[in-house]
Amino acid sequence: MWIEKLPWCFLIHCIWLGVMGVDASSWTAEVPSSVSGLQGSCIVIPCSFNYPEPKINPSEFTGIWFKDTYEVIYHPDSSNAITDYRGRTELVGNLRQKNCSLRIDPLHHSDKGPFTFRIEIKDYNKASYTKHRVSIAVSSSPDPPSLSVREEVKVGEVVSASCSVSHSCPSDPPLLTWSHSGTPSIQSRQQTNSQWEETLTLTFRSSIADNNQPLVCTAAYKGGMTVSSSKTINVKYAPVDVMVEGVSSVKEGDTVELRCSSDSNPAAHSYRWHNSRGPLPTTGPTLTLENVTRLTEALYCTAINTEGQVPSSPLNLNVEYPPEIKVGSACTSDISMVTCLCIVDSEPPSTVEWSLPAGHLPSTRVEMHGSVAMVTLKRALGFSETVHCHANNTQGNATLSFTVPTNDKMFMLYVSIGITAFVVVIILIPMSACLLTKKGGRSHSDQPVTSMQDMDAAKCASSDPSTLRKKQKDTSSEINTNYYTNDHLYSNMEAEEDDPCECYGGDDAVYGNM
Ligand SMILES: *[C@@H]1O[C@H](CO)[C@@H](O)[C@H](O)[C@H]1NC(C)=O
Ligand SMILES: *[C@@H]1O[C@H](CO)[C@@H](O)[C@H](O)[C@H]1NC(C)=O
Ligand SMILES: *[C@@H]1O[C@H](CO)[C@@H](O)[C@H](O)[C@H]1NC(C)=O
Ligand SMILES: *[C@@H]1O[C@H](CO)[C@@H](O)[C@H](O)[C@H]1NC(C)=O
Repeated sequence: MWIEKLPWCFLIHCIWLGVMGVDASSWTAEVPSSVSGLQGSCIVIPCSFNYPEPKINPSEFTGIWFKDTYEVIYHPDSSNAITDYRGRTELVGNLRQKNCSLRIDPLHHSDKGPFTFRIEIKDYNKASYTKHRVSIAVSSSPDPPSLSVREEVKVGEVVSASCSVSHSCPSDPPLLTWSHSGTPSIQSRQQTNSQWEETLTLTFRSSIADNNQPLVCTAAYKGGMTVSSSKTINVKYAPVDVMVEGVSSVKEGDTVELRCSSDSNPAAHSYRWHNSRGPLPTTGPTLTLENVTRLTEALYCTAINTEGQVPSSPLNLNVEYPPEIKVGSACTSDISMVTCLCIVDSEPPSTVEWSLPAGHLPSTRVEMHGSVAMVTLKRALGFSETVHCHANNTQGNATLSFTVPTNDKMFMLYVSIGITAFVVVIILIPMSACLLTKKGGRSHSDQPVTSMQDMDAAKCASSDPSTLRKKQKDTSSEINTNYYTNDHLYSNMEAEEDDPCECYGGDDAVYGNM
C-alpha cells in the first residue's frame, strides 16, 4: 500500500521543496556520489541529513532507502523492502543524530544503485534527498594489498613491513597475514572516500635466510575471497661458509687447483690467500699450487665483499707419497733376542711386513706418529741372517734389508760358556763330586745314592769334558739350522730345569760351596 503511494509523495515533495525556496537549504543530505565495495563483503554507505528545525521536538523518525526505480531497499519494517534486499540492509546511523548511514551485507553484484535516502518525521514533514544519490561500484575481486618494506637491508637489522588494504566493511575487515614470523601490529583507520584502511605491520630481525625470499601478505575478505602481494627483500651479509675446496688427496709433485668458496650477498668481489708463512700473491677465487710436496703448508683463503671479510679454516692438503724407510731403522740383539725397528714414513700409512728368505714374520708392535710408523720385530733369530722390512701403500713400496748383527756380547757369552765349561770340567767336577759324596754321606748316611738328580749328576761328573763341549757345539748347530721352527732357540743356551747337567751352572748349592 505504502509502496504504491510513494511516487506520488515524491512528486509532491519535489514541488514542495522547489516552492520552499530559502528554507530548502536545510533539507540537505551528505552522501558520497559513489562508494566501492567488494561483492560478498559488506558495505557501509556513510550518510548524514539535515532538515529545518521544527517548532516542537519531533517524536518519531522513519528512515527509508530506495532505488531510483522507487523500490524500497530498506525500511524499518522489512516487509516493506523488496525481497532481494530483505535482511541484507540495516540502518546503522542514528536518525536522531541526523545519521542515515546504511549497511548492505553481503553486497551483491547487482547492488549498483543509485540509492536515495528518505526521512519521514512524524507530525512534521517528509523528504527524499533525490539530489544526493549514491551509486555503488561493486568489484568482483579485491585489489591486492599494497606493501611497504625497505627492500635492501643488512643482516641483523630490524625490518618493518607493512601491508595495507582498503575495504568498505568496518564491521568485518579483511584478515591480513604475513608469511614471515615476527611481531605483528594491526591498525584500522577510516579514509575520506568512505573506505577503511586495514594495515598489518610486521617487525622482525633480518637473517641470511630471508635474502631473496618473497615476503607475502595475504588479505582474506569476508565472503571467502583472498588476495596477496609479495616483495622480495635483499639481505646483505658478509661471507659465510668460507671454505677452501679442492681435491681431498693429491700425489706428491702434482699440481692442484684450490677454490675459495663462500656464500655472501653481494657475492665476494675479491679474495686473499695465505699459508702459515704469510700472504700469497693470488687475489682470485682459485689458487694453483704447483708441485705440491708433503711439506706444503696448510692454506686458507679470505672472502671479501662490501659487508666484510671472513677467513676460511685452514686446509691441510693430504699429499700422498710412497713409503720411505728412515734412518734409525736397525736391528740390535741382546743375549736372547733380536730387536729390529723399521721406521716408515708414508701417506697413506703403509702395510709393513717383516720377512726372512723363508717367509713372513709377524710384527711385534706398531706405533704411529703422524705419517711415521715405528714397526718393531722382536724375536729369537740366528746370527748373520738377513731380515727384510717391506712397506707398501697405494703410492709405491720400499724394502730395506737388515743383517742381524753378530753381537759382541753373544760372542762373549760363548767365550764365557767355554771357559766355565773348562773350569767346571777341570776344577769343579772333582770337587763337587767329592762334596756330593760328603753331603750324601752326611744327610742320607743310611741310604745309597738313589735320587735321579744325583745319579745324573754323577753321570755328568764322569763325562769326558770333550763330550760336553761337543754337546754344546751340537746344540749351537741345531740352533743355527732349526731356528725357523723353534721360537725359543736361544733359551737352549740357558741351563734348563730338566737339564741333567744343571748342577754345573744352575745349582746354587754348588756355587754356595765355592
Ligand atoms: C554514522 O553512524 C555510523 C555507524 O554507527 C558511524 O560509523 C559514523 O561515524 C556516523 N557518522 C557520523 C557523521 O557521525
Ligand atoms: C718439485 O719439487 C721438488 C722438490 O722441491 C723438486 O726437486 C722438483 O724439481 C720440482 N719439480 C718441478 C716440476 O718443479
Ligand atoms: C701391499 O702389499 C700386499 C702384499 O704384499 C698387498 O696385499 C696389499 O694390497 C698392498 N697394499 C697396497 C696399499 O698396495
Ligand atoms: C714395488 O714398486 C715397484 C715400482 O716402484 C714395482 O715394480 C713393484 O711391483 C712393486 N712391488 C710390490 C710388491 O708392490
